[in-house]
Amino acid sequence: IPVEVFDLVIFGATGDLANRKILPGLYRRYLSGQIPPECRIIGAARSAMDVPEFRNMVRAAIAEFVAAEKRDDAVIEAFISQIDYVAIDAKGEGGWSELKALMRPGVVRAFYFSVAPALFGDLAERLHLHAIADAQSRIVVEKPFGRDLASARALNETLAAHFSEAQIYRIDHYLGKETVQNLMAVRFANILFEPLWNAQYVDHVQITVAETVGVEGRGAYYDKSGAMRDMVQNHMMQLLCLIAMEPPYHFDPDAVRDEKLKVIRALQPVPPEDIVRGQYLGAKGTPGYVADSENPDTKTESYVALKVQVANWRWQGTPFYLRTGKKLRGRASEIAIIFKEPPHSIFDDAKGWHENVLVIRLQPNEGMNLSVMIKEPGPGGMRLTQVPLDMSFAEALGEDGADIPDAYERLIMDVIRGNQTLFMRGDEVEAAWAWTDPIIEGWEARDDKPRGYDAGSSGPEDALMLMHRDGRRWREIRE
Ligand code: BG6
Repeated sequence: IPVEVFDLVIFGATGDLANRKILPGLYRRYLSGQIPPECRIIGAARSAMDVPEFRNMVRAAIAEFVAAEKRDDAVIEAFISQIDYVAIDAKGEGGWSELKALMRPGVVRAFYFSVAPALFGDLAERLHLHAIADAQSRIVVEKPFGRDLASARALNETLAAHFSEAQIYRIDHYLGKETVQNLMAVRFANILFEPLWNAQYVDHVQITVAETVGVEGRGAYYDKSGAMRDMVQNHMMQLLCLIAMEPPYHFDPDAVRDEKLKVIRALQPVPPEDIVRGQYLGAKGTPGYVADSENPDTKTESYVALKVQVANWRWQGTPFYLRTGKKLRGRASEIAIIFKEPPHSIFDDAKGWHENVLVIRLQPNEGMNLSVMIKEPGPGGMRLTQVPLDMSFAEALGEDGADIPDAYERLIMDVIRGNQTLFMRGDEVEAAWAWTDPIIEGWEARDDKPRGYDAGSSGPEDALMLMHRDGRRWREIRE
């Protein structure tokens, strides 16, 4: 179904995110017929480009970041003919009257702030000063949304001076991933899982986001963040919320976000012994984190594992183990719900594990896997074995499953539709920082140094201990 006609202004339109994700994503939605031909995309950035130059940049971005089978020259040219460009001075007056002249009355107006957060206030202020934004306009802001509670609050206040909460779309691209949304479908559209989804039946939960990439030229940003700020405060927190939350009364933006907020507020402070930080080491000519970050004194973590407790009725006593890191042995993100063993075994089986595990694979190879116990075939008596009920979404859904839209595509279309369900509310971001801050402050106060781990491994040894101590083990990181 096509969305309403819109004018979308992308501030920071010459930047990396616009080139890699936003512009190619918009093209793919255009190709699929979801974007009406009258829509207009206006690039805005500091560079003194003209429209043909910017359009060439978009052509190059599509050539590089859109799969060959989706590149149709006629469609590309039709899409590009709807693109404009204005050189704009975020802190001055240059370009604003030109931008105003391009905006059409009576269509949805959206402004994507794909710029450093330090510029959010300047942009918001000028959009109003020049009467470009109105009470219906929407703004989209990227992470990092602050680096602690104080800075996130300041950003919220800056935006709130010009826009109401209903106009602000804070992106966490993990919420745009199909499988992440599937978490809610699995939980709340089936009767099977929800009755078992609590501390009585769930032994523990493991959330893994493993990456094979290092900091890839983003060392300067990353070194000031680390895995805790870059991944845990936002993406992993969102995953945790979707697993732990109570059923919302309706799939409605505030109903969903209210439930997520309750989870964040129920998170217990994490004692130092429940956290392991790591930093990847160089090997065989590949640089380690210290070289990649270009900071010989760096104490930033490129890996973190932690044990998190959600202190409420549903989850009391069921730990959530989270781990994420760069330069690990595989690119594999998954959520595993490890159920308890049956209360009593009627079989004389020596193996000793009778657990059911539900795994939701976020990427790659999106799908679900439920391990169940069955009888080993053969006449040898009642021997048990664990087998998977395995489902790949791509296979199960045929062509529709093979054509999963990128997270950004989905989220940008939601902005145009005016649906905030998959965007973070201001209070949610602040609550997430309120939980994260003491952890990071603790490291700083203790001058904590991350443990080294080999590039291509599963992370630091100490992370294994975090589990062994509790008589549990991490699942293998496998692509
Ligand atoms: C980003 C982080 O938000 O998410 C990156 O800043 C990380 O460091 C990326 O690599 C992971 O996203 P994805 O979609 O590749 O899992």
